[in-house]
Amino acid sequence: MERTLILVKPDGVKRNLVGEVLARIEAKGYSIVALKMLKADRALLVRHYAEHEGKPFFEPLVEFMMSGPIVALVAEGNRVIEGFRKLAGTTDPTTAEPGTIRGDLARDQGTKVVQNIVHGSDSLESSDREIQIFFPEL
Ligand code: RTP
Ligand code: MG
Repeated sequence: MERTLILVKPDGVKRNLVGEVLARIEAKGYSIVALKMLKADRALLVRHYAEHEGKPFFEPLVEFMMSGPIVALVAEGNRVIEGFRKLAGTTDPTTAEPGTIRGDLARDQGTKVVQNIVHGSDSLESSDREIQIFFPEL
């Protein structure tokens, strides 16, 4: 069965949207097979966001992701990688479709990096890699 790594980012946790995000994942029909709250350190985030190293938003992104607790979870189901990306909506919350997590729950806050509530793996290769980072026991 396909699996994906989902994060509720610090903005989502601060705004008490963990339950709302989990409810949408479950209502869609995916199963949550692992879940934890943590404060990510720099080393973990540099690994997780390795593809973005060197980009102008990399440092603000790492700072933002260290600004408070996050919730990491693994969801499972046929085509869950694609399905959760669709539930999340596009990266920019201003233009993300209403009906999506980002479209309904986030907006531009004028910050150095886009704050958009959730992360979801974007491919099988990424999900394998990211699940290993957050849940090495799986
Ligand atoms: P994610 O990885 O968090 O699921 O988001 P994504 O695939 O939609 O976006 P990605 O391109 O992977 O970027 C990762 C996160 O970096 C921040 N970002 N800011 N121009 C910007 O200011 C910018 N571009 C990306 C966002 O928080 C994005 O989710
Ligand atoms: Mg991404």
